[in-house]
Amino acid sequence: SQPRITVIGSLNMDLVTVTSNMPNAGETVHGERFATTCGGKGANQAVACARLGAQVTMIGCVGDDAFGTMMLNNLRNEGVNTDGIRIIPNQTSGIAAITIADGDNRIIIVAGANEEVTPAYIQEYESIIAQSDLVLTQLEIPQDAVERAVAIANQHQVPIMLNPAPAIHLDESFLAQLSWITPNEHELDIVTGSQPISTPDDASWQEKLSKAPTRIIMTKGADGAYWADESGHIHHSAGHKVTVVDTTGAGDTFNAALAVALAEQRSLPEAMQWATAAGAMSVTKFGAQAGMPSREQLNNWILQSSTKKC
Ligand code: RIB
Ligand code: NA
Repeated sequence: SQPRITVIGSLNMDLVTVTSNMPNAGETVHGERFATTCGGKGANQAVACARLGAQVTMIGCVGDDAFGTMMLNNLRNEGVNTDGIRIIPNQTSGIAAITIADGDNRIIIVAGANEEVTPAYIQEYESIIAQSDLVLTQLEIPQDAVERAVAIANQHQVPIMLNPAPAIHLDESFLAQLSWITPNEHELDIVTGSQPISTPDDASWQEKLSKAPTRIIMTKGADGAYWADESGHIHHSAGHKVTVVDTTGAGDTFNAALAVALAEQRSLPEAMQWATAAGAMSVTKFGAQAGMPSREQLNNWILQSSTKKC
């Protein structure tokens, strides 16, 4: 049966500009391309979970503007249940101004309606959280709302995964309440307050990944992802060679695939293989959501890449 996943988080309209030269302060340049695409870490993860076959409910807020309507319609078209999303009067929807220059992206997010996701708001959806097989959340909504979601999930013994992005420092006592946390290598340092490793090797990762009192799964871009098992042994799920078009949303796709696989009670190594492959597929298309694979596409892709190796 389909796993029930509740995604608690942001919805942003991504305003994406592609340019070959980034302007300096006071300078005007001509860009090559502009697109308006649905994004936000919460909505992206909800869409990716739905495409991979989960029954998804999203909790979040949009503004009473055209972007809000577009984002709600987008989620409905993807089969995401939007009963937990409200339209906030006199508020703007969240936006992300994204500039892509030479494969390097710079993002400014303005939270708008995402700020309205308060602890009291989350509390109203306690029954949705309680009925989930897994809760997935990020840090583009207020931190106290995330904390409330974690508390409710714990109270009902529902596993909760936090994608700590954008990263902030988090207390050990809070980390201990999470089932999984999925930072990239830079976010890991910010979240745990550890020093960056200048020449990373397996031993240094081992120390970092086994320190926090929770399951840490660290993504490392094209290199795939790392995790520590109960005995502190480090495992690596290798990355995949693909032609990169746009990395926006790759982390969201990774998190969603991991969440779906774990909600289906699959083993961590298997879930990691699924997640790294899904993340790789997502970067082959422009926009955060366009490259997110369906369950069938992902399974076929994994099958093909494993036969290619033989
Ligand atoms: O993770 C990618 C997302 O981060 C984008 O869709 C953008 O909205 C930013 O929030
Ligand atoms: Na993409």
